[in-house]
Amino acid sequence: MTAADPLSAPPSPPDASGAHPDWAISVQGMTKVYGGRRVVDDFDMQVPRGAIYGFLGPNGSGKTTTIRMMCGLLTPDAGQGSCLGFDIRKQQVQIKARVGYMTQRFSLYEDLTIRENLDFFARMYGVQQRRQRVADALATLGLSGRAHQLAGSLSGGWKQRLALAACLIHDPELLLLDEPTAGVDPKARRDFWAEIRQLAKRGVTVLVSTHYMDEAVQCDYIAYIAYGRKLIAGRAGQIPQMIGLHTWRVTAPNLDQLEAELSQNPAVEQVARFGAVLHVSGRQEAALKQLAQAQQGQPGQRWSYKETELEEAFIYLMASGTDNFAQEADPGATAKPPAVPPRRQDQADPPPSAPRGAG
Ligand SMILES: Nc1ncnc2c1ncn2[C@@H]1O[C@H](COP(=O)(O)OP(=O)(O)OP(=O)(O)O)[C@@H](O)[C@H]1O
Ligand SMILES: [Mg+2]
Repeated sequence: MTAADPLSAPPSPPDASGAHPDWAISVQGMTKVYGGRRVVDDFDMQVPRGAIYGFLGPNGSGKTTTIRMMCGLLTPDAGQGSCLGFDIRKQQVQIKARVGYMTQRFSLYEDLTIRENLDFFARMYGVQQRRQRVADALATLGLSGRAHQLAGSLSGGWKQRLALAACLIHDPELLLLDEPTAGVDPKARRDFWAEIRQLAKRGVTVLVSTHYMDEAVQCDYIAYIAYGRKLIAGRAGQIPQMIGLHTWRVTAPNLDQLEAELSQNPAVEQVARFGAVLHVSGRQEAALKQLAQAQQGQPGQRWSYKETELEEAFIYLMASGTDNFAQEADPGATAKPPAVPPRRQDQADPPPSAPRGAG
């Protein structure tokens, strides 16, 4: 975390426009209705300046729609708020000039060269000393020697880095990255994230949607959305406690069989496999402890209590979310209630229901 922590400290008073100086994004009650369905439903979000903020949720849960409303690209049907201190309903022009938005699908011109793409974005944003800025971006990317190559001929990882360079060309204060590394190999993902961390160190705020655990654990803050409603939000390190998960680490001679057995136990809400170890989690602390004590007597089994980390919490959250779009595609289906119990007053109030055997 590079900035102060306004989520745990009282925020500074709002300025004359009502915006909070500590928050890059502060929105309340965001709602979007499509075809009578509230695809984003009374959604609040506060993103501290300088933070890397992870936005998680299943397919179709409303992440892209929320991101587009927060940067003034889409008008909400209800709700208000500010982005970089500007009103998301009235000051879209000011917001767009200060935000870099990397869309979920590759949005550069495949039939323009790498240089032409960067030059196009620099012109669009009215960047000063454009040629130099484009040359610098090419050098930073390590693509100076390939500037004349068509963007469409780049590999997936390079396309994403080029897209990131394009949305950085006007030195934005806030980056909105919508699943920026989907389908990109792990090495390219690591490189991409090294760049994100560098940007955050320089004070750029980053809101990033992702389905990847290795990315979620790099975020300072996390919000989780399902069916358009925020289920949980807070500092990444506090998310496991907010869910109320307890975890035991288990080694045993026959892990497959044990995993299958444990998944049937009512105290066990999740069994996640990490190599040759099972992480057995649930919210009923006493029942889990009782299970651990009973199992300890079995030949070869070793149970030890471990602090629940974001990895287990991530698996828990992601396992609890069915594809929200699939729900819509099957109107006869009953909506699955969200799994996260309310822990804070600012959260939605879903009935608890737990994923099982999510390993
Ligand atoms: N322009 C639109 N018209 C009608 N429905 C829409 C429109 N845009 C989004 N939706 C619907 O709103 C819901 C939320 O979509 P959204 O793209 O915001 O989800 P998401 O969380 O970004 O999903 P993914 O992880 O798959 O990208 C989906 O059911 C989607 O079909
Ligand atoms: Mg999306």
